[in-house]
Amino acid sequence: MAEKELIRLTYCSTATFPVQKYSIEPEIGRILVQCRKNNRREEIGGVLHFGNGFFFQALEGDRARVNKLYNHIATDPRHEDVQVLSVKTVPRRMFPDWSMKYVALEERIKALLHSKRRSNFNPYKFDEAFVDELLQLFVSAEDPSVEKGRGNDADAGAQGKGGWFKRLFGAQN
Ligand SMILES: Cc1cc2nc3c(=O)[nH]c(=O)nc-3n(C[C@H](O)[C@H](O)[C@H](O)COP(=O)(O)O)c2cc1C
Repeated sequence: MAEKELIRLTYCSTATFPVQKYSIEPEIGRILVQCRKNNRREEIGGVLHFGNGFFFQALEGDRARVNKLYNHIATDPRHEDVQVLSVKTVPRRMFPDWSMKYVALEERIKALLHSKRRSNFNPYKFDEAFVDELLQLFVSAEDPSVEKGRGNDADAGAQGKGGWFKRLFGAQN
């Protein structure tokens, strides 16, 4: 489908569940199951990062569909203080192969934050230029939840042979 108007909406929020310091957060896996099930149907893609107890997510797709999904996500009790950081009409997607890419990337994020003299990951303080820089970093990042070398197609997130997503949730469908 050619989108009527392709937009990228980026927002941040604060997790309401207790954050596990030293293990993979199972709630993230559950959210990714939902993303990868629903977003493809709506032709919505994007990227999700969870760090320091904060979510940072970009949603790309048709304006009406992205707005509808965002309004739905915003009511999810697993997070609060949901705040839009940027909404823009874009000529093309940054994450064309992903219904929802998950990025951990702690070291590279830390390096970028450090280079901007920011001490920790707090997306509420990001301006639009920094949001764009971070998204650029996410484009080239690997998704640790899926098997290496596979994108989101063919349900890699749910059915790929490797990655913690598969180990935690097994094959879906
Ligand atoms: C930070 C965060 C990001 C989410 N992103 C998506 C998403 O991209 N797509 C999606 O379908 N659900 C996403 N969800 C889950 C939705 O809020 C919701 O639980 C899901 O769509 C199922 O809704 P339903 O129970 O009404 O079917 C997200 C939840 C959170 C907390």
